[in-house]
Amino acid sequence: MQIEENVSLKKYNTFGVDANARYFVEIKTEDELQEIITNQEFKKDKKIFLGGGSNILFTKDYDGLIAKISTKGNRVVDENEKEVLVESSAGEKWNDFVTYCVEKNFFGVENLSLIPGTVGAAPIQNIGAYGAELKDVFESLDGIMIDSGEKKSFSKNECQFDYRDSIFKKKYKDNFLITKVLFRLQKEKKFNLNYRAFQSYLKPGEQNKLSLREMSELVKRIRRDKLPNPQKYGNAGSFFKNPEVDLRKINELQEKFNDLVHFKVEEDKYKISAGWLIEKCGFRGKNIGNVGTYKKQALVIINFGGATGDEIKKFSENIQNAVENKFNITLTPEVNIY
Ligand code: EPU
Repeated sequence: MQIEENVSLKKYNTFGVDANARYFVEIKTEDELQEIITNQEFKKDKKIFLGGGSNILFTKDYDGLIAKISTKGNRVVDENEKEVLVESSAGEKWNDFVTYCVEKNFFGVENLSLIPGTVGAAPIQNIGAYGAELKDVFESLDGIMIDSGEKKSFSKNECQFDYRDSIFKKKYKDNFLITKVLFRLQKEKKFNLNYRAFQSYLKPGEQNKLSLREMSELVKRIRRDKLPNPQKYGNAGSFFKNPEVDLRKINELQEKFNDLVHFKVEEDKYKISAGWLIEKCGFRGKNIGNVGTYKKQALVIINFGGATGDEIKKFSENIQNAVENKFNITLTPEVNIY
């Protein structure tokens, strides 16, 4: 384990922002993790444990220690005829874990194919796409308290999962490091095809014949059609969450905008498409300098090359202000801003 000083984070964040970390280390084993957490030399330094860097925006140099987690491994820990428990290390790439499940014919994470990031980061914001969320397959996780070095496990309930949210974004923010995640997957074929776009991609009758591999490929195809490739355009997926409002607000908006894109979450709770709100403010495909939104999805902010984190943040604030002024709705970032 080698701790370096003044390291560029450009290749460690998918926005491709060139900020520096005062200290940087890549961690490949759990022993190294323990070592870095208990290391007296860095005891007082603030720390970020980084996965794929696909949901983070650095607006300035980081005056602390950044530890990139690269621990690997997926293994079956228990199974019966119907279900299987798979334990995965925090540093596994999320999509490699999905590929492992698809190859073994374990059902449950195929709708989450191709999401950037790592297994250890996935529970923090309860990643989701195409009608599925991490919490649907989550069993428990293990990790370490960063201040005390104490090991701790969390059951599903204890994680307090919500829409792009968990206890690790609240009470345990920046003080808990996830080391392993346990997933409960299914051996019997069962797909979640509720997401609207699936229908337009499938021919009539085709859905009954889909294999797990084909389902995963379908999700990948939809993602590639709708979202920019982070290798080509620096981005962190959706920049904001879809805001939640009550029925009164929906009625009020529908009087003015008959094409409002929204859907019901539960009684008197609706989500409005943030992409639609942003588009209505004229921001779809709009650039200011090297920053802009994706032409096919206004919720994705792109670094077209050389933008600073601060420029990206300012651009996102322009969007927030425009949406606030036009709709009286506050957009909350989904991306973690440092
Ligand atoms: N829309 C617009 N204009 C836009 C973008 C979207 O009008 O510029 C409208 C369209 O009607 C579209 C609808 O909004 O049909 C929904 O768009 P989309 O299916 O792309 O979904 P989303 O709600 O914008 C969410 C997640 C994505 C996830 C997709 C698919 C959030 C914040 N984002 O986006 O997750 O891939 O659903 O399930 O919930 C991410 O979290 O980083 C992410 C990419």
